[in-house]
Amino acid sequence: YVIGIDLGTSAVKALLLDRSGALVAEASRSYPLFHEHAGWSEQRPDDWVEATIAALAELSQAPGVRPEAIEGISFSGQMHGLVLLDAEGNPVRNAILWNDTRTTPQCREIESVLGEKLLRITRNPALEGFTLPKILWVKQHEPESFAKSVSFVLPKDYVRYRLTGALHMDYSDAAGTLLLDVEAKTWSSDILAAFELPDGFCPPLAESHELVGTLLPEPAQSTGLPAATKVFAGGADNACGAIGAGILSEGLTMCSIGTSGVILSYEPDASADYKGKVHLFNHGKENAYYAMGVTLAAGYSLSWFRETFAKGEAFDSLLAGIGELPPGSGGLLFAPYLVGERTPHADSQIRGSFIGIDGSHTRAHFARAIMEGITFSLHESVDMFRTAGKTIDKIVSIGGGAQNPVWLQMQADIFGADVVALTSEQGPGLGAAMLAAYGCGWFASLDACAEAFVSHAAVYHPQPESSAQYAGLFRLYQQIYASTRDIN
Ligand code: XUL
Repeated sequence: YVIGIDLGTSAVKALLLDRSGALVAEASRSYPLFHEHAGWSEQRPDDWVEATIAALAELSQAPGVRPEAIEGISFSGQMHGLVLLDAEGNPVRNAILWNDTRTTPQCREIESVLGEKLLRITRNPALEGFTLPKILWVKQHEPESFAKSVSFVLPKDYVRYRLTGALHMDYSDAAGTLLLDVEAKTWSSDILAAFELPDGFCPPLAESHELVGTLLPEPAQSTGLPAATKVFAGGADNACGAIGAGILSEGLTMCSIGTSGVILSYEPDASADYKGKVHLFNHGKENAYYAMGVTLAAGYSLSWFRETFAKGEAFDSLLAGIGELPPGSGGLLFAPYLVGERTPHADSQIRGSFIGIDGSHTRAHFARAIMEGITFSLHESVDMFRTAGKTIDKIVSIGGGAQNPVWLQMQADIFGADVVALTSEQGPGLGAAMLAAYGCGWFASLDACAEAFVSHAAVYHPQPESSAQYAGLFRLYQQIYASTRDIN
């Protein structure tokens, strides 16, 4: 067996898989988020460790499973979160998470200090969610905490460190720190020097499938796993989500609609130049990359709607009837900027809108318009990839957006590409388990592992008439941002 641990923002989920890729057992534990001030989002690193140990202990006792048969574990982690460590390896303060937006001044500082070097080295713009702005914030606002810090890691690296005693960071997660030279795969001495960060501040780098240790005696005892369990580095949640969806070769793109939404496209190398308009990160597959655009309030827009106007109702009942409505929801347009927007506008202040409300509109029109608006927002990323010369004709859809056939057809029509869901979907935890399976030597490559573990369901083809209608509506949708920016 192998275990994939998905360390998310609200909970950790651990999956136990057998050699055929079948899910044998799963366990989940949640932990709190702290929002001490508006825009702040923090977690206690030791909460992650306790929750992970509890989830692993549950898996090691799964009925019919001998713990000694569990060979390896690996991780998928929420990206960008800052965990500062003191000389004893203890966190100096709470972790500052990817969805914390306190660091706008630090982002401007990074841009002005690094100039064109920022994009050339890191391949990404300075965004509030990334790690370097958070390091600078602590340095400026909590100098006593910073003075105690000798190194930093990202969330899943801290958990792995507590399980193995060894400090590492894999390339896919390091890419989201703004400290990695993404193409050379080394920490950038230029950026470290520019912000006077101490020697040894960045942990040793590793490939995602690399063996980085085994379990320390104490966690071995508390999880019930053998001390010889192999621990592999793991990767960023988006990289692991892509691995679990089989996005491992040129021509494959993923659409993931969870709380936020992602369009992620495989890149065989770092040569594509998106000029920072979409992210370019190292993949969890060795030497590969992915480009990614993000819609901040994707599934969140729909859950906000349900919470506000249909509290207590199941999504199935909220979405009943949307299939009978025509593309365009009878003239109702929705822009999903409930918490600002990342791609393409990188604007944390913009807010959402419904436009074109008619007296005949029902709740179903609003629900359908929300789904269309989310998909239009994701299509902005697809459109940008295509403008940069990329072919996007097959998209693997995962997450909440893949659970509704009307939405899958809508994605095919709006993206103008074939859309396919997975037969069984386990998300980033599956990608993490696949890294462990490949690391354990079960397969000659991650691609071979995907062939065994990942299978596609029916394909949705774009319908020419709906696609043409949506193409016209998309042009209207694109005007909403500039027309509403001043209202907010
Ligand atoms: C990616 C990002 C989020 C987090 C969520 O840049 O900020 O997708 O990885 O965990």
